[in-house]
Amino acid sequence: MMDRNFFEKTLERWQELAIRGLRTGEKAECDAPDVLERIIVTGMGGSGIVGDFLSDLANHYSWPFEVLSLKDDRIPFRPREGDLIFVVSYSGNTLETLSVFNQSCSASRCIIVTSGGELLSRSIASGKCSLRLSEGLLPRLDLPEILYSILSFLTSNYKIPNIKAESLDDSIVIFKEDLKHQVNELAKRFMISPPILIVSRPYFSVAIRLKNDLAENSKLYSSIEFLPEAAHNVVEALPYIGDPNRIFIVTGKYSWGNIYIEAFSKALNGKTGYIELKGDSLLQELIYGYRLSAYISLELSSLRGFNPCTTENIDKYKEELGRVLSH
Ligand code: F6R
Repeated sequence: MMDRNFFEKTLERWQELAIRGLRTGEKAECDAPDVLERIIVTGMGGSGIVGDFLSDLANHYSWPFEVLSLKDDRIPFRPREGDLIFVVSYSGNTLETLSVFNQSCSASRCIIVTSGGELLSRSIASGKCSLRLSEGLLPRLDLPEILYSILSFLTSNYKIPNIKAESLDDSIVIFKEDLKHQVNELAKRFMISPPILIVSRPYFSVAIRLKNDLAENSKLYSSIEFLPEAAHNVVEALPYIGDPNRIFIVTGKYSWGNIYIEAFSKALNGKTGYIELKGDSLLQELIYGYRLSAYISLELSSLRGFNPCTTENIDKYKEELGRVLSH
């Protein structure tokens, strides 16, 4: 039975899942461009978030190739010779992702990241390389394995500034960081009113993950505003939201001296809360953020009386989509 206990036990396994991912990525012998110009990461929900994660790292460290995160049923341009497409679906049965596979993978270099399903069958039938994920989990709970398998494939095959194979191994200590105090405090606060998350680079993926975790696990709608854009529109409305304590800025050590955050916070007379990420490197801070997000949403699911594992409406949507497409 998938319930709070299953959820919690899987979170306790996150370090082990990250190590599995590391090993899968470094062992994989997949065809990839000699000179990598662009990575396209395509997937939905808990699988697609890996595109945002890589994009935060790539932007911050100015990686020598572009990262595009696509959450859609097609790639809206023709892939080029220097492109590598990661087609990510934990279940292997997500129709939007299968559609990208069908449209783009016969003519381009694709690596499939999945635990099985139709995507695995199609990738085997067409001779595509895959990074196999552990079976029996929920997509969103296998996050570390998904992130680390792709990242370690990249670091094993390309020179990537600031992320080396050995620093990947070092980064996994962050899975043991104690979060209890921060989790309890933020969960209680979000119970009073759902957060409006304000985020600036390089932490976009943490806010996106938290918004999605609150929805899927706690059934709580929250919102995100991205800086500096939000300072040119939304900032006008924020003083009138009723509860000013709903505004939380996601910060980490790379927020120090971030002029957009400083000016934005001053414009709101300093009436903002903070979600502080910890870690020695950006990679560690991002992982810290995803763990924090998982535990806060787990806590809130209990406070609100929901099973964090069930996602009735996502299931209904998928069923309906399958029904419509099979006609
Ligand atoms: C469920 C979850 C969802 C799925 C999404 C796509 O745990 O996190 O957001 O990730 O519906 O499904 P997959 O990942 O199987 O392609």
